[in-house]
Amino acid sequence: MLRRGVTMDLLEQLNALAGDLAEKLGKISSNAELEAARVDFLGRKGRLAELMSHLRELAPQERPLFGQAANAVKQRLTELFEERRAQQEKEKEAAFLAGFDPSLPGRDPRCGSLHPITLAMREVCAVFQNMGYEIAGGPEVETDFNCFEALNMPPEHPARDMQDTFFINNQTANNILLRTHTSSVQVRTMENQSLPIRVVCPGRVFRNEAISARAHCIFHQVEGLYIDKNVSFADLKQSILLFAQEMFGADTKIRMRPSYFPFTEPSAEVDVSCNICKGKGCSICKGTGWLEILGCGMVDPNVLVANGIDPEVYSGFAFGMGIERIAMLKWQVNDLRHYFENDVRFLKEFETVL
Ligand code: DAH
Repeated sequence: MLRRGVTMDLLEQLNALAGDLAEKLGKISSNAELEAARVDFLGRKGRLAELMSHLRELAPQERPLFGQAANAVKQRLTELFEERRAQQEKEKEAAFLAGFDPSLPGRDPRCGSLHPITLAMREVCAVFQNMGYEIAGGPEVETDFNCFEALNMPPEHPARDMQDTFFINNQTANNILLRTHTSSVQVRTMENQSLPIRVVCPGRVFRNEAISARAHCIFHQVEGLYIDKNVSFADLKQSILLFAQEMFGADTKIRMRPSYFPFTEPSAEVDVSCNICKGKGCSICKGTGWLEILGCGMVDPNVLVANGIDPEVYSGFAFGMGIERIAMLKWQVNDLRHYFENDVRFLKEFETVL
């Protein structure tokens, strides 16, 4: 027999818990609220625990009944929580899926690419590396000796006017400058390497020129130098032909025009057949069918002597080309300034050219 009063009252409160909780769970929307409700009902100091603490006040014969009822309620409360938690997970997933279309194509990660000048420079070097050339480098800040004097251009030589120079003057010397061509690396190589020499020298050069579609005050060159016994002009011609065909296509022809450079004798400028009109004549080649790509020649004996090499024993050839120009011809870019402005739309065109 239960005592009316205390026990009945406790049991009623106990049985009311499930209803209260169900009502409360109907109103919550976040995980935090769910957790707060759990602590309120099932926590160590929660409503169920509070009711159970009255167990001690009951008569011993009433305790089992109350205990069983409390356990049943506890189980019911736990179930209610689990159901609500599961439902909440489902709602979350449904909300995510509502804004998610798995049939949409994925987004490609944006990937950087090499600058076209880097691509062209590497390609030029690779062609010569395959012929057995090594890469040589030198500083952009040079001495007058390496840039001019040792290349057969003493002070007052009129050819210096062709390369308007940025000088770096200080109190003690005005013979430091920004190199105007990578031919300065020839001098360094002859100074430091033993013979035979076969190098290509890629790098940045500087000239005090107005910026236009065809000229810039900073640009890039690749210089080549080959010195050995019995190197002839025929070797030069064949090497340049091979390079031109690797770079611009197997059906490319070259022609050499006599020219003048202080550091080579004889000197030539090299044209390649226009790869756009195939030699017929178009606006790019100005109707001539030919495009100029580089300067070259047999290393002047004065240059060999200035660099401690006996011209009676050794001979060699050299060549130098502007990379912007090579890249413009290869990819038909009509304004050199594109290479310096870093417009992403332009750069993206080269993403797949590797
Ligand atoms: N250094 C020359 C220039 O910048 C290019 C050049 C021409 C280099 C003839 C050479 C050469 O090695 O033989 O205009």
